[in-house]
Amino acid sequence: MTTGSLLAADLVIAVLAAAGWLGGGAASAARRRPLALGLAVFALLATLARAVTITALARAGWWFAAEKVVIAAPLSLAAVAVAGPRLPRAAGGDIRSVAVPLLFAGYAQSSALLVTLLHGYPVSAGVGLLAVAGVLAATALSWLALGARPSRTVSRAALGVAVAALVTGTGLVVAPAAAPGVPHGHDYRDARTVGEPTRRFTLTAATATVRAGGRDVAAWAFNAQVPGPELTGTVGDVIEVTLRNRDIARGVTLHWHGYDVPNSQDGVPGVTQAAVRPGQEFVYRFRADQVGTYWYHTHSASDVGVRMGLYGVLVVRPAPVTGVDVTVPVHTLAGVALPEPRTEPVEAGVPVRLRLINTDSTTHRYALAGTPFRVAAIDGSDLRGPTPLVDTAVLIPAGGRYDLVFTAPATPVALFVDGRAVHSTGPVSATTAAWPVLDPLTYGVSSAAPWSRFDRRFTLVLDRGLDLHGLLPRYAHTVNGAADPDIPPQVVRLGDVVRFTIVNRSQVVHPWHLHGHHVLVLSRNGRTATGSPLRWDSFDVRPGDVWEVAFRADNPGMWANHCHNLAHAEAGMMLHLMYS
Ligand code: C2O
Ligand code: CU
Repeated sequence: MTTGSLLAADLVIAVLAAAGWLGGGAASAARRRPLALGLAVFALLATLARAVTITALARAGWWFAAEKVVIAAPLSLAAVAVAGPRLPRAAGGDIRSVAVPLLFAGYAQSSALLVTLLHGYPVSAGVGLLAVAGVLAATALSWLALGARPSRTVSRAALGVAVAALVTGTGLVVAPAAAPGVPHGHDYRDARTVGEPTRRFTLTAATATVRAGGRDVAAWAFNAQVPGPELTGTVGDVIEVTLRNRDIARGVTLHWHGYDVPNSQDGVPGVTQAAVRPGQEFVYRFRADQVGTYWYHTHSASDVGVRMGLYGVLVVRPAPVTGVDVTVPVHTLAGVALPEPRTEPVEAGVPVRLRLINTDSTTHRYALAGTPFRVAAIDGSDLRGPTPLVDTAVLIPAGGRYDLVFTAPATPVALFVDGRAVHSTGPVSATTAAWPVLDPLTYGVSSAAPWSRFDRRFTLVLDRGLDLHGLLPRYAHTVNGAADPDIPPQVVRLGDVVRFTIVNRSQVVHPWHLHGHHVLVLSRNGRTATGSPLRWDSFDVRPGDVWEVAFRADNPGMWANHCHNLAHAEAGMMLHLMYS
């Protein structure tokens, strides 16, 4: 079982346990003896089963096992201790006498669940106390409602504990945390002088109607096409792109995803430039010194902007193309999977490079059928010693790129994306769903680690929780318990070797993306990367995953560091890397 599925199982069991206790309590209050006993026994078993899932999570290296042990386990234990012993007695006697204990157990389980889902990491003493106060208050109310008579001492003690927990808990939760420096609105530096442009492009953003999947689709497009024009260059070129906004009311910018341009050219509105409003323009200029497959997209209202079509391909080649070199930017436009299927015969013996790009917010699965192939590069960085693969799929995270290379065989070859043939040299029928998936961490040949000591370390815990710092409370995607713009920036000095640990406590995948730098993957879930060095700008952090990555701080500025599920980024999962 993966940590993700263990987590899901644990969650389901916790919900069942809470529902069982509450249902049992209600049934016994209504004197429905068999139902009450049945639900109570079920809840008891479910609560005990959590001991198994929590232990399994701890053994799988789940980073937050301790928190389950500290919050969920004691509340479960209290539930079992209070309700369990009363069950045999109630089986013969007055079933109503166990109503309050069963409800108490239900409140305890529910509050543990609420702490897990709403509050998240890090769990503070204040939240723990509030949870206890909530359980006691709900129990007291049930007591009153059912007209049962607890002894005076019991009710006084319970009242005392509840009030104390409430007061202390509220105090601890409301006390202001240290205010992070919010890194917005600083001075934008002028474009770095990089010399006379050798490649010039103009991109005009506008609302447009484009053909997709055989119908007219309302889109936001660069130069009236989705994807926008493919920008290409040769290493050493000076690329100049003039961005104009005709009528995109939410503003537009260009971010060169994976291209480590100077900060002033990075295209993050409010951080490296102001958004380009309708009627305005902005000129980007940078030297193309990274070879490989990249893409560009708007970073203004990025979730809707990219989804509506404001993206395109950026490819920098080491030399003029030899053989076949095609880009396959995958995107979902108004429910239509792009690109539309294409068939282009290739003569046997010709070298082929397929540049796969995932411009969506979720992972896609790519499978190349009909030929052995190698993964030559990921995220624009060449792999060392990639071996031939056959009948193997690759998973590309949101924002990520894989270059697949092969020599065209005499028989047809087809690329499938999520089971759909997207690019082929002829008809191929293959079922690729059962193919194994490549693990890049063990692919290719390793080389000596470039760094052995680190000047700085950061930990990012990706999670979901209530964000109370804005004007309206929201259920945000959080990093270390806070949501943008309240996440403290990571501060580094030029030249630092920075190591960061990134942990996913939530139930969904977070494709992580740091601007302006490529990170070297050190390990995932405690297992050291043993294959080719991997220098990535986008990687999937799955539920339960713990990644260790490192980079050299060699590109000064203020950089976005965020989840590339762009809806998550807009719902808080974005922070900044800042040079002191
Ligand atoms: Cu491709 Cu900040 O994003
Ligand atoms: Cu995310």
